[in-house]
Amino acid sequence: MTIIAPSLLSADFSRLKDETEMVEKAGAQWLHLDIMDYHFVPNLTFGAGVVKSLRPHSNMVFDAHLMVEDPEKYIPDFQKAGTEYLTFHYEAVSHCDQVIQEIKKHDMKAGISVKPKTDVTVLEPFLEYLDLVLVMSVEPGFGGQKFMVDMLQKVQWLKEQKAQEKGNFLIEIDGGINRSTAVEAVKAGAEVLVAGTAVFGAASPKEEISYYLKLS
Ligand code: DX5
Ligand code: ZN
Repeated sequence: MTIIAPSLLSADFSRLKDETEMVEKAGAQWLHLDIMDYHFVPNLTFGAGVVKSLRPHSNMVFDAHLMVEDPEKYIPDFQKAGTEYLTFHYEAVSHCDQVIQEIKKHDMKAGISVKPKTDVTVLEPFLEYLDLVLVMSVEPGFGGQKFMVDMLQKVQWLKEQKAQEKGNFLIEIDGGINRSTAVEAVKAGAEVLVAGTAVFGAASPKEEISYYLKLS
């Protein structure tokens, strides 16, 4: 079954608790939390404090996507906030292996994300240590952008690596997911679909989520 991770970036920020409860009731298994710092990306969202205050209101898996410089600084805060998956950007650090180890030491699952212009094969040395690889299918920073179809090649490469037992990570795709791009993404090998605009902008988020859950 496909995992759907609605991105809170497209929620009404004045009603984060209600929006979280709404997508959980609608069937989402994960909640995608986009953390932006105005430096790594030209946008700012929220930090571990907001994640911590949402934690008691949800049983969904919290999937934090750190689009920040020096992500290693924030690892303890996200552990305390109750995050299950902590994903940082390959482009934001100089020693990926150390950051992965640090996340695991803090009892969280470790993910790495690559921006559209980054070659996914740079992740080869780290695959065996990762729990998740997040392929960005838009430039990180904003919701509502157009899906970059070329990114599906990265998903296919990751699927091949898994088939060759080079790792046991989940393949997640983020950006521009809608009903048609989701079909392509799942066909290519995506197992976790992040969707912001498609879910929170839908007339019926429940119907929208049910659609993605049925893809396989
Ligand atoms: C972009 C974020 C995405 C974003 C996706 O930097 O990482 O998670 O919310 O939004 P949509 O689904 O609208 O493209
Ligand atoms: Zn994201």
